[in-house]
Amino acid sequence: MSDVEQRLAQLEELGLTRRLRLISGPQGPTVLLDGSPVLLLCSNNYLGLADHPQVRAAAAEAAMRWGVGAGASRLVSGTMTIHRRLEEQLAAFERSPSCLLFGSGYLANIGVITALAGSGDVVFSDELNHASIIDGCRLSRAEIVVYRHRDVEHLEWTMARHRSRRDAAIRRLIVTDAVFSMDGDIAPLVEIVELADACDARLVVDEAHATGTLGPEGRGAIAHFGLEGEVDVIVGTLGKALGSYGAYVCAERELTRYLLNASRPFIFSTAPSPPAVAGALAALELLQRRPHRVERLQANARALRRALAEEGFAVAEHDMHIVPLIVGDARDAMRMCEEAISRGVFAQAIRPPTVAEGSSRLRLATMASHTASDMRHAASALAEAARALELDPADIGTPAPLFEHAVGEPDAEAEEPAIRVIDARAGAGGLFDYEREDAPLGAPGETAPFDLERETSIAHAA
Ligand SMILES: Cc1ncc(COP(=O)(O)O)c(C=O)c1O
Repeated sequence: MSDVEQRLAQLEELGLTRRLRLISGPQGPTVLLDGSPVLLLCSNNYLGLADHPQVRAAAAEAAMRWGVGAGASRLVSGTMTIHRRLEEQLAAFERSPSCLLFGSGYLANIGVITALAGSGDVVFSDELNHASIIDGCRLSRAEIVVYRHRDVEHLEWTMARHRSRRDAAIRRLIVTDAVFSMDGDIAPLVEIVELADACDARLVVDEAHATGTLGPEGRGAIAHFGLEGEVDVIVGTLGKALGSYGAYVCAERELTRYLLNASRPFIFSTAPSPPAVAGALAALELLQRRPHRVERLQANARALRRALAEEGFAVAEHDMHIVPLIVGDARDAMRMCEEAISRGVFAQAIRPPTVAEGSSRLRLATMASHTASDMRHAASALAEAARALELDPADIGTPAPLFEHAVGEPDAEAEEPAIRVIDARAGAGGLFDYEREDAPLGAPGETAPFDLERETSIAHAA
């Protein structure tokens, strides 16, 4: 058996193999999945702009005018007028002095973090940050301090510990998702901004799931909290609510000028393709002209959450469009996904390493293009799917404290919280590496078949 076969067999044994599912047609509210019609409940096309006629037309026209490929990296000959236009529009949208397009959100996070932190620096990262942030931290070779999810008190404590090192040359970076991709909860940005100021740290906020879904005119979590101008670096993607592909970084001019000179994924990759850029530009114009789409998305989120609660699921009322139904076991989550598909609802099961061991889930995502009756149909199909597996919907849902801020008076009697520090210089992980010492999977000492960094790390470290 080759090493590849062995690792695939291991994944199979753990119930963690993946396969590609085939969607016919555009990312609408309903699609053909492997040939059968289903309600699509796991697309990030939140505002229904990826398949909007004006967005499609803009992309098609751009292909005719500028061609399909940019042909070169931005610094060689790949910067076209369409790139410049979108950067200007995005900077205005984010109320930021400047903007730089990147190939994707994944590349933008890697490019920003590796440019702003290096060997000898420290990055403070929420334990549920997206994989692109985790990978950026590792590639940076900085010391990585993982703080408890949305726990400002813990972040403050970890930063205080690191402040005692008085070397002015050490750069400190705090990185957080604005809306967490697998849980749909929001980072406590007001407190994090205060802390970053007080501790002389740079703050990077990834608005991937917040742009177009939250805040005035869908301008994201930073605008929602009234923090425009107070976050050093905003990362956004064009691949979710803006219905296209690519990403952007907004910051002070000096900083984007630095990224242009220092950020390897920006420098060493072909510029975004003109049709994708033009599509995003059209989507951005539509969002600004008709922001009611954001309200429709939020109304659908409320309708779905209410319908799920009526079916007995442990789901709280909220506007947030990402609704995790946490099943626990990876195989149960997969089975529930299949049962729901057989009832006409597609909500992909999300398993380790995307989420922590024991927290496999169906990640539901509403779209502005759904209807209230779609939401009721989805909830009832999901309840039937759970019951078909003898799972009680009351045991499936979202932890209640998800939307509360985890800040409070520090308890003087409490033990110092444990933090997990990763020395990235000791060797960054590849696709199938594994960093935790307390491996929950496989025999002791055996290499697990994938990387599980986010896995409940801090609780374990305690
Ligand atoms: C929080 C977050 N950041 C970044 C990304 C990556 O963005 P992209 O799909 O544009 O590479 C994702 C993708 O799911 C994400 O959830």
